[in-house]
Amino acid sequence: MTAPIIVRNGRVLVLDQRLLPHKIKHVRIKNADDGCKAIADMIVRGAPLIGIVAFYSLALEAGKPGSNERSLLKKAGKVNSARPTAVNLNEAVRQFTLLLEKHGQDKNFAALAMKKAAEFHRKEVKASELIGRHGAKLIKKGSAIMTYCNAGALAAPDLGTALAVIFEAHRLGKVKRVYTCETRPYLQGMRLTAFELEAAGVPFRIISDNTAGFLMKKGMVDAVVVGADRIAGNGDTANKVGTFTLAVLAKHHGIPFYVAAPLTTIDMSLRDGSEIPIEERSDGELVNIAGKRFAPKKARGLYFGFDVTDADLITAIITEKGVVSPVNRANMKKIAKEE
Ligand code: MRU
Repeated sequence: MTAPIIVRNGRVLVLDQRLLPHKIKHVRIKNADDGCKAIADMIVRGAPLIGIVAFYSLALEAGKPGSNERSLLKKAGKVNSARPTAVNLNEAVRQFTLLLEKHGQDKNFAALAMKKAAEFHRKEVKASELIGRHGAKLIKKGSAIMTYCNAGALAAPDLGTALAVIFEAHRLGKVKRVYTCETRPYLQGMRLTAFELEAAGVPFRIISDNTAGFLMKKGMVDAVVVGADRIAGNGDTANKVGTFTLAVLAKHHGIPFYVAAPLTTIDMSLRDGSEIPIEERSDGELVNIAGKRFAPKKARGLYFGFDVTDADLITAIITEKGVVSPVNRANMKKIAKEE
């Protein structure tokens, strides 16, 4: 599988996910501005990867001649607001800022920051592997699994979150087929998830987003597994817009609905999902398809990038520390507690 981020000899390269699956091109991140651009323009995307890129880009900024504590704090603020919903970004910036407060005066601060970025990265890789293992236990043999957006290795190195569960369940011989919803308008499901499933040899079909209910009604779906961008203290979960619709449909049809996410995606400071900031992107990304305008010239679109799924629609949240079920505040508190 094509790695979404390559770090070698102090150089950081990211895969331009806008061009997938037909073109493989890497972009070099040299500083915080490059990191911001890569995140805001969705060259990189997916909650854990956004956090990882944010941390590296700030560490690289620290190595730039002339950077100092003040300039770094300013850049950290800029990176922090590159996209609003995925809390992994804020967590990475928070950890960098703490490091800056403590060691900003050290001569080797840039090297230390790179080391910490690599540690942050490694932790996410480990989390991904464990999420896969915990989640696969929930999947019954012969399952047809529906997924949404891309919560794979491209979004969460090295194996993904939702896709880590699917890959591991497939390895154990439990997966009959995956249905990946295309995920309008950025098409993460059709372009990216399909790309990953194909590379891994998992049998799958791409469906249009509005086919999901029909398949569930026909009894063709045994479980839904999705990722998350931010999970509030009570388990309400923000993920790619359209996830909530799937959860309601799953509940209606008695199908288990699983959310897979690392602990860096949990935001215990928020009481519930109504407090999660939801990204609104330019409607140009909606009304234009592959650079061509499909809507009438003056028509305006409305494009929220995420929606919030209520905790009571979620059968379980799968983390690297184990599975939260039932999903409620008390159980979220237990899982989020520091070791
Ligand atoms: O807008 P995106 O592509 O960054 O949104 C990504 C998602 O919604 C993913 O499902 C989520 O980040 C999970 S990543 C493992």
